[in-house]
Amino acid sequence: MTVKEVFVPISLESIEPVVFPDVALYIKTGGNYVLYKSSGRDFSYRDHERLSKNGVEFVFVSKSDMDVITSHMEASAERLLTSDLLNAKAKGKMIYQTSINFVDDIFNNPDKTTDLKRTKRLIENLMLYLSNYPDAISSLETVISHNYHTFVHSLQVASLTLMMHSEAYSLSRDEMLDVGTGAILHDFGKIFVPQEILNKSGRLNEAEIEVLKRHPEDGYVYLQNKGVLSPVALTIVRLHHERCNASGYPLGLDSREIPRSAQITGVADVYCTLTTDNHGNKTMPPHIAVQLMRHQMRELFSPLLLDTLEKLVCTEDVQQFIL
Ligand SMILES: [Fe+2]
Repeated sequence: MTVKEVFVPISLESIEPVVFPDVALYIKTGGNYVLYKSSGRDFSYRDHERLSKNGVEFVFVSKSDMDVITSHMEASAERLLTSDLLNAKAKGKMIYQTSINFVDDIFNNPDKTTDLKRTKRLIENLMLYLSNYPDAISSLETVISHNYHTFVHSLQVASLTLMMHSEAYSLSRDEMLDVGTGAILHDFGKIFVPQEILNKSGRLNEAEIEVLKRHPEDGYVYLQNKGVLSPVALTIVRLHHERCNASGYPLGLDSREIPRSAQITGVADVYCTLTTDNHGNKTMPPHIAVQLMRHQMRELFSPLLLDTLEKLVCTEDVQQFIL
């Protein structure tokens, strides 16, 4: 029996020619993956230009090459983010892709959550990008891939959670790192939910919903046992589905009992779910999503936090908001 090769999309703009790891690159044409360059030959600036001119947005790599690519991209992130050679859009693609690779890696290799230094470095780079580019949100684009939804969603929620914190409160750098770490791992407990439930296209039945609802507590217990995450990060993982009127889970806490960081992550989580579907497509304009959260989901969220959200996402600059 042959093992079916699994391909992973990498946005073209996030690839730095010449220094990118020497792996085989594929492009997708008519639903098939076609070898663009084999390993043993550099990916040159000319290659980059040619693909870009042909409208290629993503190249594909073998899943088995992801380790080396992820390490390379994480190691280069800070240098590229502070480089004058890349524009804001390219930097956005680079940090976005790096973060998605990271979440993919962590979700598939849960033991790697103990490498807190790596997580903090990634969140630091994400913060560096978000704070240097006021319209960062609009220049982050999505990787269109069904399987990547959880990873893309984790990054979207982390970005928005960090932005909401910096908009509304003045946290120290360490506190922001804790918040970012908790937010990017908020759905980590989904590694314990069977794929049939996560990928089910129709409505979930009651039993399935109960299984899904265990993810905040399961993620919290697992990560707490690892003993590396801060209380703030752990709280976000555990309490991001709690709601102000005590209708949330797992503990049914009310607005006075849910810590601010978990409330903010909850707002960002629901907003990102409303505005982007499982395929990475925009489903609802920002102002409609905010109105829906204000009125149809009344009492679930703090009105002050919804003001903060609105201020961030409902500006003319972010009409193209696709997080
Ligand atoms: Fe969740």
